[in-house]
Amino acid sequence: MPLQTTGKIWHNGNLIPWEKANIHVMSHVVHYGSSVFEGIRCYGQPSGAAVFRLPEHMQRLLDSAKIYRMPLPYSLEQLSNAVVELIEANEVAPCYIRPIAFRGYGEMGVNPKNAPVDVYIANFPWGKYVAGDAADVCVSSWNRSAPNTVPSLAKAGGNYLNSQLIRMEADVNGYVEGIALDVNGYLSEGSGENLFIVRNGVLYTTPLANSVLSGITRDSVLTLARHFGIPVVEQAMPREMLYIADEVFFTGTAAEVTPIRSVDRITVGDGNAGSITKQLADEFLGIANGLRPDRYGWLTPVNVHAEQVVSV
Ligand SMILES: Cc1ncc(COP(=O)(O)O)c(C=O)c1O
Repeated sequence: MPLQTTGKIWHNGNLIPWEKANIHVMSHVVHYGSSVFEGIRCYGQPSGAAVFRLPEHMQRLLDSAKIYRMPLPYSLEQLSNAVVELIEANEVAPCYIRPIAFRGYGEMGVNPKNAPVDVYIANFPWGKYVAGDAADVCVSSWNRSAPNTVPSLAKAGGNYLNSQLIRMEADVNGYVEGIALDVNGYLSEGSGENLFIVRNGVLYTTPLANSVLSGITRDSVLTLARHFGIPVVEQAMPREMLYIADEVFFTGTAAEVTPIRSVDRITVGDGNAGSITKQLADEFLGIANGLRPDRYGWLTPVNVHAEQVVSV
């Protein structure tokens, strides 16, 4: 997807021109993958715009940094305020927001302890992530990382080498996305999405112990399902659950709620988005777009005029 530039990027507390946000090739992160980052969406509202679950995303950034012993000199509040300041300065909404913290320039060697930490936040327009209305996906031949290798709960740059292998393999084989199994052969997640299955009216998702990222959309969908009285089960599942499911869908900030039409060329249900998927997707987008009540306080308003690109 070609990157659309904006005017400013937030760097260590200041707004700098987009084209000045550069790093040196000898920065630690370039060699050793030592970054943690977030992906956040800002949605158009009937009047203005709002960021979806901003503090939760910034808390996950702080958690990811903590796992990697990376000192971040900014509080949750400072990071959240920086996002609002940036969107208002760039006047770009709806948009995708990419905060990133990494080990910078000045030290060589694997141990990152003395490498400086840099924090940047960019925002830019970004549309649909998974092409089409429903996705034809495969089970990947690549596994997610085993426990106690690369921590799945940290959203770290290095994790996405595994994601790249999953996504590229799916792509060359004519699928839009791959679902990875964990090291024990149980269902895990997509290259950049959490996984949900519906069977006999019960909503299943893979637990954190199956090498998944603790997705914020996953949490939102679980919250909405409980609100609707849909039974929710988080449990380890074998891959064949995908083939006998009534409904399967992905969740993610980029993917939002994406119905899955087929897995390994086996049609899911009757091949159309199922009723539970639609109910959850409509409520999720309705809240995000300010068309349904924000009963959980998920929206942080920003003072910028935005077009509403999605209507429910
Ligand atoms: C590997 C992986 N799993 C799941 C998700 C979904 O997480 P969220 O809903 O917080 O975007 C993402 C996206 O950030 C991801 O990269």
